[in-house]
Amino acid sequence: MTMATENSASGHARCAVVTGAARGIGLAIAEQLARDGLSVVATDRDGELAHAEAERLRAQGLAVQGAALDVQDRAAVRALFATLPAIDVVVNNAGIASTMIPFRELDADRLRSMMGVNLLGSFIVAQEAVRRMPEGGRVVQIASRGYLGGAGAAHYVASKAAVVGMVRAMAIELRWRGITVNAVAPGMVDTRMLEGYTPEMRRALEQREPAGAAASPQTIADAVSFLASPRAGQCNGQVLFVDGGKSVGMPPL
Ligand SMILES: NC(=O)c1ccc[n+]([C@@H]2O[C@H](COP(=O)([O-])OP(=O)(O)OC[C@H]3O[C@@H](n4cnc5c(N)ncnc54)[C@H](O)[C@@H]3O)[C@@H](O)[C@H]2O)c1
Repeated sequence: MTMATENSASGHARCAVVTGAARGIGLAIAEQLARDGLSVVATDRDGELAHAEAERLRAQGLAVQGAALDVQDRAAVRALFATLPAIDVVVNNAGIASTMIPFRELDADRLRSMMGVNLLGSFIVAQEAVRRMPEGGRVVQIASRGYLGGAGAAHYVASKAAVVGMVRAMAIELRWRGITVNAVAPGMVDTRMLEGYTPEMRRALEQREPAGAAASPQTIADAVSFLASPRAGQCNGQVLFVDGGKSVGMPPL
């Protein structure tokens, strides 16, 4: 085992908790962190799928354990974390999106449920994790390029902008403990989150991506792999866009 994968206090493999890790981006992150040598707890609201995927990865020789966890349930988060020797890395990936809703038709309940998972859920998990996190710890929050703005998605945009705001505040508070807090902002990624779009709408959206297609979840996992590593100690309070550069502007005419 290399120094990069060890918890300096215990000498054991660094432990990472990933939320929403039964599929999509979260599953790719869990697998990548395990390939990086970390001991990974892949959690998801869908515990059955999380356990099944963890078993599949263990069969490949990777240190991945599955766990059922709804990020909105603080008691369950506490109970799970109490079973872990340490939490060196936490990746708040669990999130929900929705079909497009014009702002004038958006009701407060939809906004509340979006905030409940995307903001409050990641707040609960991050807070419980950093209470147990040693020096050198890493918090990575999965935001979205969408936080910059987007029609028909005020509730999603607001939830992800709030996540970025929280990252910036946490980064300042936690740097004195040697813990970094960063966000990854994906563009369009090929996961089941896109299932809400009709094929026509999906094609139209993909054509607007610089690559002309949705990215693979692995591209996000690669960015998380860096931010979660000891090599990223000087990155703090940042948003790393992984979107082919669409966030910096449209192509020339
Ligand atoms: N797919 C994209 O285009 C895209 C783009 C930008 C950002 N993101 C963000 O990436 C993250 C992962 O999305 P994805 O595309 O892999 O979506 P996905 O729907 O495929 O996976 C999301 C996972 O989160 C889990 N989950 C949902 N609510 C939960 C809760 N309350 N507690 C625990 N787990 C819960 C689901 O069971 C699912 O396994 C999300 O935060 C999403 O907002 C996705």
